[in-house]
This record gives sequence, C-alpha cells and structure tokens, in this order.
Amino acid sequence: MTAQPDEYREALDRARNHAFQWLESLATRPVAPQQNADEVAAHFRVPLQESAVDPAEVIDELAAFAEPGLMGMPSGRFFGWVIGGTLPAALASDWLVSAWDQNTGIRYATPATAAIEEAAEDWLLDLLGFDATSGVGFTTGATMANFVGLAAGRKKVLDDVGWDVQSDGLSGSPRITVLAGAESHASIDMALRYLGLGLPVPVAADHQGRIRVDALAEALDAASGPIILCLQAGNLHSGSFDPFREAIELAHARGAWVHVDGAFGLWAAASPAWASAVDGLQLADSWATDAHKTLNVPYDCGVAIVSDRALLRSAFGVHTDYLIHDAQGDPFERVPEFSRRARGIPVWAALRSLGRQGTIALVDGLARNARDLAHGLGALPGVEVLNEVVFTQVCLSFGTDERTRTVTRALIADGAVWMSGSRWQGREVLRISVSNWSTDATDVAASIDAVRRAMAAAD
Ligand SMILES: Cc1ncc(COP(=O)(O)O)c(C=O)c1O
Repeated sequence: MTAQPDEYREALDRARNHAFQWLESLATRPVAPQQNADEVAAHFRVPLQESAVDPAEVIDELAAFAEPGLMGMPSGRFFGWVIGGTLPAALASDWLVSAWDQNTGIRYATPATAAIEEAAEDWLLDLLGFDATSGVGFTTGATMANFVGLAAGRKKVLDDVGWDVQSDGLSGSPRITVLAGAESHASIDMALRYLGLGLPVPVAADHQGRIRVDALAEALDAASGPIILCLQAGNLHSGSFDPFREAIELAHARGAWVHVDGAFGLWAAASPAWASAVDGLQLADSWATDAHKTLNVPYDCGVAIVSDRALLRSAFGVHTDYLIHDAQGDPFERVPEFSRRARGIPVWAALRSLGRQGTIALVDGLARNARDLAHGLGALPGVEVLNEVVFTQVCLSFGTDERTRTVTRALIADGAVWMSGSRWQGREVLRISVSNWSTDATDVAASIDAVRRAMAAAD
C-alpha cells in the first residue's frame, strides 16, 4: 500500500516549525556553535532502542539536541571558509526535491527533474557566457566538479596520443604532466589523486596568488607528452583570477587541456563588472563551480562544465541493458554517479527567483560587502589588509602572527561574527569570505565592531 499523506503530515509540520525557529534565531544567536561535537554526541550516540518512535517525536528530538551544536552558517555575519547561505526559493525547492524523491539519473524515468535540470543548465551556460552546446553535470561540490572536468581532460589528452584510458586504464599509459598554479586549491590535488594522476607540478604564483605566465611558459617548455593545465577563478585568500587569456593560449599552443577551478569565482563571469578580470575564461576546456557557494543554494550542489559535450558523455557514460537510455544523453552520463537527488532543481529555483539582473546584483553585492569590510577594517589602527580586494575575499593581519592568532580567537569567542584563520604567503591571517546573499550594511558594520572588540580583548 502506498504511504498515506497523514503518515507524513505531523513530522513535516514539526520540521517546518523547527526550520522557522532556526531561521528566526539567526539574527540574534551567537554565530559559533555553543556545544562541540562530543557534547552533541552525548545525546545521539546511545544504543539503538528496540521499538519504533513516532516520526514527529524523532523530529522534535533531532531539532532539540542538534540546536546547540549548529553553526550560524546561513547568517549574514558568517564569513568563514567559502560558505554560501540559502536563498528562499532554493531552500523551498530543496524540500520539494526530497518530497518528490526522484532518482535523477535517467531522463525517461524522471522526466520532470531531468527537464528542470536541463533548463538550469541552459541558464547557467548563458549567464556565465559559455557555449550553449557545452556539457553540464551537477555534482556534490566543486571537488567532484574538478574531478569531472579533469576526467574529461585525461581522456582527451590520452586519446590524442592514441591511448584508450577508458578501456586500458592508466597502467603503462603515457605519463600526463599536470601543471597547476602554486596556490591552486587542495581539491585539485584530491581530484587528481582520484584520477590516478598524482600531484600537479606547481607553477609559481605572484603576490596575489595568480599563476605567473613566464613561469607557466617555462613549465610548458619543460613538459613532454600529454599536458593538463589547472587554472583558478577566485583564489581562496585573495579572490584573484588567473590571467586566463594568456595562460590558455600558451597551453593550447602545446595541445594541453585547460581546466578552471572556479568554485566561487566562476560566478564573476555572470556580471559585467568582472569582464576584464575573467577575460579569456571561456577559452578553457572545462570548468568547475559551486552553486552552494556564490549562488546560495543548499548543500550539496557543484557544477561541472565541459566544452565538448560528447567528450563528457564518453568519459562518464556507460551502457547497460537494465537502464533505459535516452538518445539526448542522460544525467548519469555527465557525473560520476548513477543515483542522486535532483540537486540541479535548487539552481533552477535560485535563478528563476533572482532573474539575470538579480544574479548580477547578488555577485556584485557580495564583492561590494567585501570591499566595505576591507575598507572599514583596514582603517582600524594596526590592521593591514594583505590582498588586493578584487572579489569576495579579504585577508587581514593584526601585526605579528601571534597577535593575529589572538585576535582571531577573541573574535570567535565574541560570537557576533565568524571569520576563519589561515596562513597565506608566509603570514598568519584572518580570512573573510563574503558569500552570503543576506549580508547587508548592518552586518558589515556589526562585523567591524566585533573585530574592534576582539582587538581590545586581545590587548
Ligand atoms: C577555489 C576552491 N576550489 C574548490 C573548493 C572545494 O569545493 P567543495 O568543498 O564544494 O568541494 C573550494 C572550497 O572552498 C574552493 O574555494
């Protein structure tokens, strides 16, 4: 018998109420969690009981025990790592995705979700200035989107030298030289590891973390055999963009595949304000980005784009008799998994709710808040802004490494904002990543006040 709606109603109503309480609490709660994982685990890591518990009660218990251990990540005053919030239409559509429970691998089986994801793909390609015939896959995040782009590249550069990696694997294959800027993100290393390609050869970067074209030219000269080059749109610390046009032209002259990790920075291509920063970006062969960062959809949602759609399909496609294949290509042929949720639907909902101008305003607004934070914080005595604030990232030093660490600790303890510590170009830094759609001028002012308090506490 099919489950009756009433079997769900009470649990869903409770979940909805808890969700509202959580969202309402964001304005006033400390951003940092009030319990650590061990404290939360004390409630959850108990022996599994023998008998059933009412679903609504399960939801109440879940919300009550989890609450003190939740980080205010969707808050407009959360600036840690690179973490987006959630737009209302994106969150609501994500609830529907769970309720619909469509396994979105096969076009024939789940036509609605496949079609909506295809619409989201069209909009993304258009917004970001890519060729409409490119292939798009929705992944768990940018790490797997990097994996997808690099897998397509691995296939292409080995095809070019007559090696069939799909059938013969890598044992005995010609060695691929992978080049990456010295400040490429660790997820590039992870993706290359999954692909059996080992660590990339680091190419020197400049004082903003951009790959140096002269060093790239030397590295390309020194390389022999198939080459893959990894570039970056949005450096984790400075927000900077690699010099795409020059770097891609050099690499293509050597027959290399060029992949761009644009986990948060690819979204700059949506706004005319960054036209010169991303000049030449579209000349690459594959790109990775996250919708769960700059576009502010819920986790997990990355996007892989490959200029050659047929190549993407041949890198990930598989034929088995029990699946029903669509001549146009199925969603599972563009990502590394058969079964998955319809994670592209919140992308559709976010873009539908924002429109083109709203998306541009979202990207521009994040960068404007980053500039305002850098301006206000840089004016505080003893604070140095270490990067050229070209996009959404700001790195601060408070003098010595020790003092920077102390101020960071005091800031986290203060609770009004969250910014994370890091080490960049030989110095301890306080890193700010403005990635939340809801951050406004009040949050910026409150954040500057919080840093001022932390500095006083650290004295
Ligand atoms: C530049 C860059 N690349 C890749 C990633 C990895 O993204 P994800 O955690 O979605 O896999 C990040 C995450 O912050 C990033 O900033």
